[in-house]
Amino acid sequence: DATEIAALRDLAERVARAAGDLVRSTRPDEVEVASTKSSPVDVVTQMDADSEALLRRLILAERPDDAVLGEEEGHVAGASGLTWVLDPIDGTVNYLYGIPAYAISVAVVAGPPEPERWTALAGCVVQVPDGTCWTASRGGGATRDGRALSLRPARPLAQSLVGTGFGYAAERRAAQAGVLAQVLPQVRDIRRIGAAAIDLCMVADGRLDLTYERGLNPWDMAAGGLVVEEAGGVVTGLRGRGASPDMTVAGPAASVRALVEILEGANADSGA
Ligand code: IPD
Repeated sequence: DATEIAALRDLAERVARAAGDLVRSTRPDEVEVASTKSSPVDVVTQMDADSEALLRRLILAERPDDAVLGEEEGHVAGASGLTWVLDPIDGTVNYLYGIPAYAISVAVVAGPPEPERWTALAGCVVQVPDGTCWTASRGGGATRDGRALSLRPARPLAQSLVGTGFGYAAERRAAQAGVLAQVLPQVRDIRRIGAAAIDLCMVADGRLDLTYERGLNPWDMAAGGLVVEEAGGVVTGLRGRGASPDMTVAGPAASVRALVEILEGANADSGA
């Protein structure tokens, strides 16, 4: 019910802020790459691991029966039917270079932890360097730094500022560049901010009109997707499907429809 959902949102916010404080206060001048994942450019820093460990510890201390799915440590089952979906640092490459667009993303979902099947209940995204905090709870609205958000009215695509992002695999990137070549001439401009959770929150607070990306992971979109929906926007996939790793498009309904048409024409959800 609404009280329980509000409590989940509060916990999401508390733990995301705590991880944000940890990451902010301990960033060394030179960040070392601890390892790489899917490709040589997919980096993990020690701080990704430390931030996720803190998030898990704080959440499970209060909610020991919940499951957790995190970018670094994977899935740990729980009996409650709720799953916390964690990105300990979204925008790791920005973190590495000291570009101030990286965030902690914490969401709690009911049902299987797959974007097409879950119901997101609450979430919080904290942009680490300046502490900007977006929250959302299902049916309870979305906020940025405590102020209620409502999406700006849809603009024509030609006047829309569109966020996007790219995967880490070379083949995927080549395909994404091809799609981008079809989108770019039809929009106001493109932003590649480098943190998908921030892209989504910027759609919710009007600093972007739309965002789209192929290949998002559940933890990239769980909290930010709910922030968009609770601000009055839609988050969807192509060809009548919901948002998924194949494609996530977010914004006001009318402009999402226009962008979806271009992305479907470009087969942006298939191939590499
Ligand atoms: C990445 C960022 C990036 C997006 C990638 C994500 P990470 O997350 O959100 O903006 O384009 O698809 O994987 O690796 O920094 O947590």
